[in-house]
Amino acid sequence: MKFTLVHKSARSGARAGLLETVHGAIETPVFMPVGTLGAVKALTPELTAEQGAQIILSNTYHLFLRPGADLIARAGGLHKFMHWDKPILTDSGGFQVFSLAKLCKITQDGVEFRSPFDGGVKHKFTPELVVDIQRQLGSDIMMPLDVCSPHTAAKEKVAEDLRLTLDWEKRALEHFAQNQVQAFFGIVQGGLHEDLRQESAEYLRGLDFAGYAIGGVSVGEPEADLYRVAQYTAALLPPDKPRYLMGVGLPQNLQQCVPFGIDMFDAVLPTRLARHNTFFAPDGLENILNAKSAADFAPLVETCDCYACRHFSRAYIRHLAQAKEILAIILMTIHNIRYLVNLTRDLRRKILNDEI
Ligand code: GUN
Ligand code: ZN
Repeated sequence: MKFTLVHKSARSGARAGLLETVHGAIETPVFMPVGTLGAVKALTPELTAEQGAQIILSNTYHLFLRPGADLIARAGGLHKFMHWDKPILTDSGGFQVFSLAKLCKITQDGVEFRSPFDGGVKHKFTPELVVDIQRQLGSDIMMPLDVCSPHTAAKEKVAEDLRLTLDWEKRALEHFAQNQVQAFFGIVQGGLHEDLRQESAEYLRGLDFAGYAIGGVSVGEPEADLYRVAQYTAALLPPDKPRYLMGVGLPQNLQQCVPFGIDMFDAVLPTRLARHNTFFAPDGLENILNAKSAADFAPLVETCDCYACRHFSRAYIRHLAQAKEILAIILMTIHNIRYLVNLTRDLRRKILNDEI
């Protein structure tokens, strides 16, 4: 993987970059739609690509539990298995184990947990195993096993989680043999504490990661804390490597965080909101079931160029949603992803012109 800083704005920390992988190049800033189980929910890979998605995110934790990394390796890797030939970033499972698994127990060596699917079979993730699984999946960018502390955790606990995470990341990087095909990113933790963020960033800068993620945000903290931590942490990261803000993906979040120098974002929100009848609009989130759309023959968003907005009215999509037609979800998913793609493209253009 190769990252080129194409332009840094004269007005802010915002950057336009180019991330080159063996599955193609990515223009940054970029939004990555989430395909947790090897599918962006409600879309075919062609539809995802048609919206302008350049890279998707998938999850080690979910794919490990079902259908299993061995099966995906036998299929020829995740790209082939799911018929997506553009880049894939896989998250490590660090975040998902803690939020989704039952009875997880952290030790110095890794994390033990019981699967919610296979009758409670015990599993253990170690930093090394998580690298091996992502190697089997064949993702373009892999992430290390980490501990994502709850935002309500006491500072001592966040510090303890951080030190364990840093040890795991070092072990993972040692286990990951540098190669030309897959790239390995570090994850900065440290909760809402600037001194811990600094300790984390400094330690990780000393290790040769291909990029740096900011984790431990978007976990229920106030928006002001998200922005403070993102801005503070981004400034601590090497300027010549991509910076990825994990789990952040509301339009206003992207607009706020791009000027801090964030290059990559992901979130389940655009796809999840669509499944809850909610779509992005210039004034914020809107619900299609709202009575005001009942006889509104205008599109979801007047200025949007997505397939849904070009061909269908709010009244029609509302009717579909009320009748629980799957097409309602498909159309709103298309719109929400296209909306974020258009937003990041627009931000990139503004960066190149020093407008933001
Ligand atoms: N997704 C959102 N936040 C996080 C995080 O802190 N760690 C990991 N691994 N994934 C995330
Ligand atoms: Zn649209």
